[in-house]
Amino acid sequence: MINGSVCVVLGARGKTSQRLIELLVKKGASEIRAVVRPSTESASGFDDASVSVVQGDISKIDTLREAFQGANYVFNGASGKGYQGAMDVDWFGVGSTASLAKEAGVEQYLLVSSQFVHPDNHWHPIRLLLNTVPNPSPDTSPDTSPDTNSLESNNDIRPAG
Ligand SMILES: NC(=O)c1ccc[n+]([C@@H]2O[C@H](COP(=O)([O-])OP(=O)(O)OC[C@H]3O[C@@H](n4cnc5c(N)ncnc54)[C@H](OP(=O)(O)O)[C@@H]3O)[C@@H](O)[C@H]2O)c1
Repeated sequence: MINGSVCVVLGARGKTSQRLIELLVKKGASEIRAVVRPSTESASGFDDASVSVVQGDISKIDTLREAFQGANYVFNGASGKGYQGAMDVDWFGVGSTASLAKEAGVEQYLLVSSQFVHPDNHWHPIRLLLNTVPNPSPDTSPDTSPDTNSLESNNDIRPAG
C-alpha cells in the first residue's frame, strides 16, 4: 500500500525513476526520498512537497543508511555506466542495497530489472550476448554480492511490460 508510505527511490534523476516518482506522488506516498549522487548537478526539480532530495551513492553504501531509516519501500531504478559503474551499481549494488534495506527494516525492496528479462526478449541478440558473459565470482566480494536468500519472502520477481 503506497498511500501514506515512506518511499526511497535510488537513481532518482534517471528516466525510469522520474516516472516512478510521479506515480508514487499520484498514489499518495507521504514521503519520497529521491536519492541522487552528490556529483549530480541539479539537486532540485521535484515539484511535489512530498519529495525530498537526498544525496547518496550506491557504491558507498554507508551514504544510504540515513535515507533507508524508517522507509517502507525502497525502489532501485539506478543503473551504472561503463564497466565499473555496472559492477558497482548493477552487480554489487543490488546485493548491498537489498541487504541494507533488510537491516533497516524496510518492508519491500523493488528492483527495476533490465527490460531484456521479459520472455519476449528471450532471443534478443543483446540478451544472448549477455547470457554468454561469465558472471564475476561472488567470492571476490562476499559482503556485497547479491544474496537472494536475504530477501526471503519479500522476493517478488516479475517481468516488466
Ligand atoms: N524492465 C523494463 O522494462 C525497463 C525499462 C526501462 C529501463 N529499465 C531498467 O531501469 C534501469 C534504469 O534505466 P534508466 O533508463 O532510467 O537509466 P538512467 O536514465 O541512466 O538512470 C540511471 C540513474 O542511476 C543513477 N546512478 C548511477 N550510478 C549511481 C550510483 N553509484 N549511486 C546512485 N545512483 C547512481 C544515475 O545517477 P546520475 O543522474 O547521477 O548519473 C541515474 O540517475 C536500468 O537497469 C534499465 O535496464 C527497465
